[in-house]
Amino acid sequence: MTTIAPEDTGQEALFDATIAADERIEPRDWMPDDYRASLVRQIAQHAHSEIIGMQPEANWITRAPSLRRKAILMAKVQDEAGHGLYLYSAAETLGTGRDELLDKLHTGRQKYSSIFNYPTLTWADVGAIGWLVDGAAITNQVPLCRCSYGPYARAMVRICKEESFHQRQGYELLLTLSRGTEAQHAMAQDAIDRWWWPSLMMFGPPDDESAHSAQSMAWKIKRHSNDELRQRFVDICVPQAETLGLTLPDPDLRWNEERRHWDFGPIDWTEFREVLKGNGPCNDERIGRRRRAHQEGAWVREAAAAHAAKHPAHTPHAGTDQEEAAR
Ligand SMILES: [Fe+2]
Ligand SMILES: [Fe+2]
Repeated sequence: MTTIAPEDTGQEALFDATIAADERIEPRDWMPDDYRASLVRQIAQHAHSEIIGMQPEANWITRAPSLRRKAILMAKVQDEAGHGLYLYSAAETLGTGRDELLDKLHTGRQKYSSIFNYPTLTWADVGAIGWLVDGAAITNQVPLCRCSYGPYARAMVRICKEESFHQRQGYELLLTLSRGTEAQHAMAQDAIDRWWWPSLMMFGPPDDESAHSAQSMAWKIKRHSNDELRQRFVDICVPQAETLGLTLPDPDLRWNEERRHWDFGPIDWTEFREVLKGNGPCNDERIGRRRRAHQEGAWVREAAAAHAAKHPAHTPHAGTDQEEAAR
């Protein structure tokens, strides 16, 4: 059997030229298998993080201290479900179905962000997650709006707008607590003490240990290295913490006039690897609940499929999800 090498048809050259010109690769375009696989892995991990990330905060919806806070938190958790949907749709444009991706999540063959394996112990954690976790997510994701794969880049534009609302509500919540009673201030400080280091780990391992970074940068999927983004995040957070009247739990944090950046202390990568391996405080709880939710939702998926089969005229055409993600 003879296969036509992509260079014979000019497809690989076209792909390279598109990347070099900073233009977008679209689902119909030829792309190297590794580029496709790398995108599916990254987009799936991102989608899984969005839906698993609903759990730690949803834990506080019934206990929100006011109607206003409850409405804000419900809107935020719903946004995260929406982010999951855009991203699963973006992965589907690469030819990988949502069932397959969810199955990989449920059987531990694909990961989600290790940050969501930490517990939300107090109401202040909702503020700390908004400020730090959504803040770190934005720092990571704003450059992805220029990612070389069109559907992913376009999904990120919409997601980043919503993430910025998430970050602000968290900041405002913490500011209110910080300026409140002594006990409220202490609760806000305790939340920052617990979430600061895990949020720095969200940028992934240091550049010299990051398995996929160099290739992702060459393909313009990623635009900045893990360490660059982590530094950017620290530089943004330090003055914000000052305004909040809260202390970041790092004795080594100091301004470096020469580098024009904040120096910070060493990160405990042993903790990161343990959480990633499944030994974080809430790994089993998160994945257990996700599997249960999937099983309990089986009848909804079956009913929707039966309805679609009976009323084909009302079935959205195959491109709908894709176009939605592209908007
Ligand atoms: Fe999100
Ligand atoms: Fe968010």
